[in-house]
Amino acid sequence: MKGLITFEGIEGSGKSTQMRLVADFLLEKKIPFFVTSEPSGTDIGRKIGGILFDRGHRDMCAETELFLFCAARAQHVREAIVPALEAGKIVLCDRFSDATYAYQGAGRGLSGEFIKIVNDWSSLRLKPDLTLLFDLPVEMGLQRAIKRNDSLADSSSSDRFERENVLFHARVREGYLSIYKSEPGRFRLIDATMDIETVQKEVRSHIMAFLNAH
Ligand SMILES: Nc1ncnc2c1ncn2[C@@H]1O[C@H](COP(=O)(O)OP(=O)(O)OP(=O)(O)O)[C@@H](O)[C@H]1O
Ligand SMILES: [Mg+2]
Repeated sequence: MKGLITFEGIEGSGKSTQMRLVADFLLEKKIPFFVTSEPSGTDIGRKIGGILFDRGHRDMCAETELFLFCAARAQHVREAIVPALEAGKIVLCDRFSDATYAYQGAGRGLSGEFIKIVNDWSSLRLKPDLTLLFDLPVEMGLQRAIKRNDSLADSSSSDRFERENVLFHARVREGYLSIYKSEPGRFRLIDATMDIETVQKEVRSHIMAFLNAH
């Protein structure tokens, strides 16, 4: 097994942008890798994501949200992540279990104990080898996400999560920071307020250190 690297952080923190740039870097270095994301890393996960992100589903309760994300993860881990790791690839994954603790735990208020039971069964207790946490003020992340959505064909494309209020996102940010504090060895905390290139430089230094150690 080579290693699972996850990208975490609030909406608009730059996870997908930075992950794409890391993929370019691994391609240049001819290091075998597999790029994926949650919940949409499988066909089944994409369909589950359709239910999760539908902004018409305002009444979805927190437990349903947890089970749906974990259902997508159960499929994703077994169908995509474990086979890629077994093939000796580096797996870059846009969000993973930490997002569940941050969003459904800190954000929605579900107990960590409940999440752990559901998530452990779903994830096969697979832990990332390295997690990059992109941290920035909530308002800045949401502004970036709005600007990105405005440039898309469907300019009113904000999803159910992006429509949550600032307080929700602030709880999610704090949730991420508290997981980071409880497991500092696995995490690299990245100041995501810097420009894309500066952030990428720091990200690459962490990736290179990780590759050298594995
Ligand atoms: N460091 C940065 N400075 C300025 N703009 C950025 C930076 N990083 C990303 N962006 C821009 O902000 C927007 C959001 O970035 P991106 O989609 O990578 O975030 P994300 O964390 O994947 O968001 P989401 O959680 O919504 O998927 C994009 O339009 C991207 O080009
Ligand atoms: Mg993204």
